[in-house]
Amino acid sequence: MSYIVRKFRPEDLQQVERINRVFLPENYPSTFFLENYRRFPDAFLVAESESGNVVGYIMCRVEYYPVSGRTLFLGHVLSIAVAKKHRRRGIGEALMKEAERGLKRYGSHLVYLEVRVSNEPAIKLYEKLNYGVLGVIPRYYHDGEDAYLMYKLFRQVSDEEIESSLGWRVRPLDKKVRPQG
Ligand SMILES: CC(C)(COP(=O)(O)OP(=O)(O)OC[C@H]1O[C@@H](n2cnc3c(N)ncnc32)[C@H](O)[C@@H]1OP(=O)(O)O)[C@@H](O)C(=O)NCCC(=O)NCCS
Repeated sequence: MSYIVRKFRPEDLQQVERINRVFLPENYPSTFFLENYRRFPDAFLVAESESGNVVGYIMCRVEYYPVSGRTLFLGHVLSIAVAKKHRRRGIGEALMKEAERGLKRYGSHLVYLEVRVSNEPAIKLYEKLNYGVLGVIPRYYHDGEDAYLMYKLFRQVSDEEIESSLGWRVRPLDKKVRPQG
């Protein structure tokens, strides 16, 4: 089966929300999806199967953080999921890559995300795309599980700027896994 990755459209909302509810414990009101679409349409994408069904999505936003005399644009992957029977076919990777392109168009200096420390498939995906681990956010999820905060730079950002914009959110790892590239 082949798939296309395209921008989210409001008529996809029901299918996206269904995938979100079935495959992720973190769910959001419809208004949250629509607000992110309204503000950052280039970074809200779906994967559509040959039969026209939405089988995966990624939703991101850009956050603004003032540091040392300038504003950092932080691309944030809010949610990504691929329906189970369509996994391991490159859809998650294609969604991530297209979302990164969208976040760059919005001027993002970097992209970051949170991921459950037990979520090996997702961590492997982000590692494959050269994300590094900045640290652990203790008890980030409502069930008490910790998150890794993972990130990747798009533009020149100093260690001090990373510490100031993202570092305060995490408990550092003993040995930081720096992103490549
Ligand atoms: C994480 C997720 C989006 C990956 O989607 P996917 O379409 O299966 O991923 P891809 O096929 O594009 O895989 C790309 C790479 O990710 C890694 N990967 C993906 N699934 C993996 C698995 N089950 N085990 C190990 N590595 C895995 C591999 O490096 C893979 O590259 P390869 O196929 O060349 O080995 C999917 O597993 C999912 O929807 N999980 C449930 C929701 C979720 O956890 N979202 C992330 C929240 S932070």
